[in-house]
Amino acid sequence: MKKTTILGTGSYLPSRILTNQDLSKTLDTNDEWIVARTGIRERRIVAEGQTCSDLAYQASLKALDDAALTPNDLDMIIVATLTPEKRLPSTACLLQDKLQGSATQAKKAAVYDIGVACSGFVYGMSIADQYIKTGAMDRILVVGTEVMSKVLNWKDRSTCILFGDGAGAAVFGPAERDEKIILSTHLFSDGSLHSLLGIPDQWVEMDGKQVFRQAIESMAQASKLALEKAHKTIDDIDLFIPHQANSRIIEAIAKRLKCPEEKIFTNVDKYGNTSGASIPIALDEAVKQGRLQKGDLLLIATFGAGFAWGSALIQW
Ligand code: UT7
Repeated sequence: MKKTTILGTGSYLPSRILTNQDLSKTLDTNDEWIVARTGIRERRIVAEGQTCSDLAYQASLKALDDAALTPNDLDMIIVATLTPEKRLPSTACLLQDKLQGSATQAKKAAVYDIGVACSGFVYGMSIADQYIKTGAMDRILVVGTEVMSKVLNWKDRSTCILFGDGAGAAVFGPAERDEKIILSTHLFSDGSLHSLLGIPDQWVEMDGKQVFRQAIESMAQASKLALEKAHKTIDDIDLFIPHQANSRIIEAIAKRLKCPEEKIFTNVDKYGNTSGASIPIALDEAVKQGRLQKGDLLLIATFGAGFAWGSALIQW
């Protein structure tokens, strides 16, 4: 069996910043409340006409560049999104088309979207891992991309303050050296809880308190399982990247896992919850900031609508 490595990462955030202060001009809310309850200070919002595949394209180019690969090298493109710009075809097809327009082509790749909300990137990474480990495919691009701003009710202060737009990507392939290896992925879902978080009509609606509780429970459980299966403890972890939904959720998971603050990566203050893009953006930023050194053990935990959640362990 082969091992899967991360060949490159990339991310893209739209340049428009929407601060809590900006929100307080049109909503009955304030910076103090939002920061105290969520840790979010600002989020990014797409420019007029900028779409989900546009964000994905920018993040993908960076990930491919980081991997020193061209779109033509890809065997598969998996896009995780809950905000596709069209019902048909998939955002992955639109991304493939945009990549074909760049230096070279991505024509031979098999491409599709997956609908696992905030957990989409970790599910995508797990799918890529299976194809690569078995030798069925060599180079797989996984992208998490979201234009959350178009599925938010901007009059509902309990939801619209939480989310932001952005994209993150990673290219996976067979390992030639023993570095940046996916050691394991662990995926879970419970569809009986679907009514607690979703888009029943036009906008994101949720039972905030239930989601809050379940997110902590689920990510802590999935993280513990990843550690147990690898015969590791939290002391062996060098960096922990949880889903960037809310700093209070992250603090509560850290407490359950007894994970010290300095081992946790967060950027939720800058971007809010970017759903499926949250993990790959955080991963890319952690890499670019030098937070991961060769041999480090990285724990990832994710959670979202479905509910669907999971974890991954990566040896850097
Ligand atoms: O990927 C997962 C995505 N989902 C999440 O991450 C959400 C998880 N849940 C949460 O983060 C929290 O439940 C929230 C931040 C959404 C809400 O915090 P809470 O402590 O559960 O507040 P609450 O809903 O119990 O509301 C407390 C009060 C209410 O006022 P009253 O009824 O006590 O007078 C709300 O109307 O806070 C009010 N409120 C606000 N006040 C100012 C709700 N939203 C706001 C707001 N600004 N933006």
